[in-house]
Amino acid sequence: MTKIELQPEFQLGEDFAIEMDHRDPLKGYRSRFLLPKTPADSVYLCGHSLGLQPESAAIYVAQELKDWAELGVEGHFHAKNPWMPYHRLLTEQTAELVGAKPLEVVVMNSLTVNLHLMMVSFYRPTKERHKIVVERGAFPSDQYAVQSQIRFHGFDPVTSLIELTPRPGESLLRDEDIELLIERQGDEIALIMLGGVNYATGQAFDMARITCLGHERGCVVGFDLAHAAGNLVLKLHEWGPDFAVWCSYKYLNGGPGCVAGCFVHERHARSWELPRFAGWWGHDEESRFEMGPDFRAMSGADGWQLSNPSIVSLAVLRASMDVFHEAGMESLRAKSVSLTGYLEFLLNQNESRSFSIVTPHEKERRGAQLSIRVPEHGRALCERLAHQGIIGDWREPDTFRVAPVPLYNSYLDVFRFVQRFSATIG
Ligand SMILES: Cc1ncc(COP(=O)(O)O)c(C=O)c1O
Repeated sequence: MTKIELQPEFQLGEDFAIEMDHRDPLKGYRSRFLLPKTPADSVYLCGHSLGLQPESAAIYVAQELKDWAELGVEGHFHAKNPWMPYHRLLTEQTAELVGAKPLEVVVMNSLTVNLHLMMVSFYRPTKERHKIVVERGAFPSDQYAVQSQIRFHGFDPVTSLIELTPRPGESLLRDEDIELLIERQGDEIALIMLGGVNYATGQAFDMARITCLGHERGCVVGFDLAHAAGNLVLKLHEWGPDFAVWCSYKYLNGGPGCVAGCFVHERHARSWELPRFAGWWGHDEESRFEMGPDFRAMSGADGWQLSNPSIVSLAVLRASMDVFHEAGMESLRAKSVSLTGYLEFLLNQNESRSFSIVTPHEKERRGAQLSIRVPEHGRALCERLAHQGIIGDWREPDTFRVAPVPLYNSYLDVFRFVQRFSATIG
């Protein structure tokens, strides 16, 4: 890497990291998460893959297990937090987190399931307008989902899938190329479905602009926010995409396989004409237990629910969302910008040419994650770092991903990571 000028806000040396941690107004949150203890002295920088367990999760879960033990089926109505409307305990905070109205969000299912449910309603291809736009190298599940939806409607991904591709020799998508594509091919595009933050490169997209341009050309716009929810400040209602989906086990710390999230813009809250795959939990609450044969959807995102959700999983998510609510997404993002900037600053001191940071430098174009390309070292580097307690992750063919998470990572974590990374990479 080429050595770059010292940024005045960051300094070299461990003392600086210690001082920054000391001054960090959010430092107290670290102790509210369970940091892995093995190997000893480990540095966890993997919140972009699996967030850490909130300390209070066990208490939230224990309450539901206790109520289940003591009340059995009566817990649906008489638990301390009755299970029937339990998911609503998450609505306000989820809306706050993604910048939406409560009517526009629901926690349900898992991400890929929600993506399919959204495409059932919002991917309505015609002979003239049948294309879906994704990033080339989008997360495989998204690629499989969009391809299978295209085929389901009798089209062929070869002619109906547009993959946004970086220019030759580049790793990131240019905003102007996204805009040009929408402008030129907008008439044929049924759905623009991008990740808010690309999982591999860490590039964040301008969701407001993409939504606006897409809508101007008559396209439906949806986002996969797996790597954006709990990472960036989102303003989904204002930006106006038709839908968004995300999982809750990365930055949202809901635990492996946790119940996911879904946003449907208010303009579709009562679009009864939209086709949808229905289930009893999306049926009008007042008459759900009349067990009638005819489906009547609830208004808003709630109307896309299928099944009664896992209360134990929701309980963990509540524990985390309470912490997010307390800390505030704006403050978390401010710390995140600083932590990731510090990480980049320290990495850039290393003059080795055997690695490069793929993620954009500008804070508006990235979240917490930095993707570090190490083509000469390969996966073995990840393993060598793991032996030294560095927990990041590897994405084929050559990328080591790390994310300092503002809720529980410290400046000292970042300092220690870069020390060990630099010593390993040479
Ligand atoms: C960007 C993205 N999309 C989709 C998925 C798939 O999520 P799920 O297994 O919850 O459906 C993931 C999982 O890591 C992801 O990172």
